[in-house]
Amino acid sequence: MPPRIAIFASVLLVLLAAVPFAVIAWVRSAPSPSRPVHIVQDMDFQPRFNTQTVNLLFQDQRAMRPQIPGVVATSGNAGGAHFEQGVVDGAWATGLPGSVPMTMETLQRGQARFNIYCTACHGYSGYGDGIVNQRAIALMSNAEGPIYGTAWVQAKSVHDPTVREQPLGQIFNTITHGIRNMSGYAAQIPPADRWAIAAYVKTLQRSQDATLQDVPPENRASLNQ
Ligand code: HEC
Repeated sequence: MPPRIAIFASVLLVLLAAVPFAVIAWVRSAPSPSRPVHIVQDMDFQPRFNTQTVNLLFQDQRAMRPQIPGVVATSGNAGGAHFEQGVVDGAWATGLPGSVPMTMETLQRGQARFNIYCTACHGYSGYGDGIVNQRAIALMSNAEGPIYGTAWVQAKSVHDPTVREQPLGQIFNTITHGIRNMSGYAAQIPPADRWAIAAYVKTLQRSQDATLQDVPPENRASLNQ
């Protein structure tokens, strides 16, 4: 039979041995403003470098890495110059690229996308009289000067003669990269939809600038009434 003190001591030790686990369990479940202790780092914390700074990992110590010679883009120009840039043989494309058929469906898609992305400024008919334009004019025509210091460049009418004469590829390019005060939509609208919108812009232009010759002969008589 071991002495009593030894029995007490062992029981106490066993109980104390549970304390660290209890503390860990408690700390893990209680909310705390400090960051958790990260024992296994995995790739949770990685060094990052600001532009134009030094990175000693590389021989030339530049954090910004130049493009590796011989790299071939797998996106950006994958659909060819016509589809991606609106260019054919160095000139603006005058027609849709092969992968976007000239169908009623395409035009309706273009109309839907135009109404979502462009009408706020350009208006449903493309005259540059969208709701944002109306609001800006209201803010600027305040008697004590423009509210919020508003300055506004009105969205250009797509029926302006300088826009009307533009080939389809140039309209596509304006949607892709923006122009002057208008920002580009490449990040928001995929290329096929940009083509559909460009085709719809051409349709809008035609709709406001049609001549009698555009109407099939059998329908002209009914128009004259
Ligand atoms: C936030 C407002 C805004 C939106 C949205 C917008 N535009 Fe514009 N757009 C402008 C402004 C402003 C101009 C004129 C820019 C200038 O002259 O500085 C312009 C100019 C244009 C032009 C004439 C370019 C030229 O050659 O002069 C076209 C075409 C055009 N936009 C098409 C579109 C289409 C298509 C969309 C939808 C994908 C769109 N815009 C969305 C504001 C907008």
